[in-house]
Amino acid sequence: MAKKTVVVLGVDGYLGWATALHLSQAGHDVVGIDSLVRRRWDRECGTQSLIPIKSMPQRVALWKRLTGRTIRWRPMDLCDARAVTQLVQEIQPDALIHFAEQRSAPFSMIDLPHATMTQVNNVVGTLNLLFALRDYAPQAHLIKLGTMGEYGTPNIDIEEGFLTITHNGRQDRLPFPMQPGSFYHLSKLHDSHNIQFACRIWGLRATDLHQGVVYGNHTAEVAMHPGLATRFDYDAIWGTVLNRFCIQAALGRPLTVYGKGGQTRGFLDIRDTVACVRLALEHPAAKGEYRVFNQFTEQFSVKALAEKVIDARAAHGLKTTLRHLPNPRVEREEHYYNAKHQKLLDLGLQPHYLGDTLIESVIETVERHATRVDPVELEQPNVDWRRGGTAAWRTAPAESEPRPVVLVSPISRPRRPLRPADPTRAAQPR
Ligand SMILES: NC(=O)c1ccc[n+]([C@@H]2O[C@H](COP(=O)([O-])OP(=O)(O)OC[C@H]3O[C@@H](n4cnc5c(N)ncnc54)[C@H](O)[C@@H]3O)[C@@H](O)[C@H]2O)c1
Repeated sequence: MAKKTVVVLGVDGYLGWATALHLSQAGHDVVGIDSLVRRRWDRECGTQSLIPIKSMPQRVALWKRLTGRTIRWRPMDLCDARAVTQLVQEIQPDALIHFAEQRSAPFSMIDLPHATMTQVNNVVGTLNLLFALRDYAPQAHLIKLGTMGEYGTPNIDIEEGFLTITHNGRQDRLPFPMQPGSFYHLSKLHDSHNIQFACRIWGLRATDLHQGVVYGNHTAEVAMHPGLATRFDYDAIWGTVLNRFCIQAALGRPLTVYGKGGQTRGFLDIRDTVACVRLALEHPAAKGEYRVFNQFTEQFSVKALAEKVIDARAAHGLKTTLRHLPNPRVEREEHYYNAKHQKLLDLGLQPHYLGDTLIESVIETVERHATRVDPVELEQPNVDWRRGGTAAWRTAPAESEPRPVVLVSPISRPRRPLRPADPTRAAQPR
């Protein structure tokens, strides 16, 4: 495969970093962009990655030392239109992989400022890219990370982006009807519309990867050295469900399921994320084409996922229980779900399915970093879809401060109760 010049936007994040390493290792010339805003949001929320992550300059220097390969690191905010334009004009990329968004649904549901900030950050950043591509690199391939959450949970099969509809005797291939479940998911759908429009009117080329929930922390490249680690989020704002279950299991706590637990979603291993992005990169969309790949490998209900963790622990003679919590989200708790995900398989994806070994390796990771677990983060969620909530409900500890001791029970630290959203507060877009 010919070497490509690829810009990875959001390179300091969970998926951006692992993808940048994977593409660099595959011989591509990688430029990594990030505003580091996620590290700021962590400080604001009092959250942190379970696995310590190095600074970007440290990470790229280590990568260079280990492999001789260069990732060109540039701090930059995608909402800075001039900087985005200069970047595209100067680098003349073959492709851009866009991970650089606020990606937490609970964060977007806290209150008006957080909803506004999420949508401004995500939609404006993507618009800046689209205009820069129109003017300075119209041949470049935009690979955008969308989410399966754009579809919602319709009572019909979910297709890959488009649906052929017959109406009053006429037929057309139309965008699949979307029912996103949070202001974050809505921002992704707004992006999808803008990207599709730009392909149609300016002839840009784009792949919208409607990704499921990602789990795992080890790709071949990340595993080369602890200093190359990528994030592991487990708290109520940023954490994903399997990570939370694994931490709860490691601490001998009940696995907490929101509502009935029949909520079904697509999931994939991080090794498959990086492989999917590479497949999209190396098989680009045609000029003017907007295509959607549903990027996940298996679908599970939340309850079935909890049962997998319980079974993996039982294989070692460890008993784990399950507890249902009132659901802070507004979503169907029992529903039909059958989403197609054929296109990446057709391009050659070889999935890594979720098995006991992966669950055990996540639990081992948790145990290795047990002193960094903040048990307060495993309590009731502090953002409710109907009433809003709060993220910064306690002072954020500095990275170097000792974290609370784990394996304590019961949890002694009090939580500040949910406060209702304040409609008088003005939105403060960045
Ligand atoms: N993690 C998942 O399970 C998952 C699932 C589906 C889709 N996605 C999508 O994949 C993408 C990456 O997710 P992640 O889990 O790696 O998130 P993350 O929060 O770990 O990383 C996102 C990175 O983008 C950066 N960023 C945000 N806004 C920026 C801006 N305006 N300018 C420059 N940098 C900015 C942040 O600083 C952060 O480093 C997101 O777009 C997300 O919606 C993730």
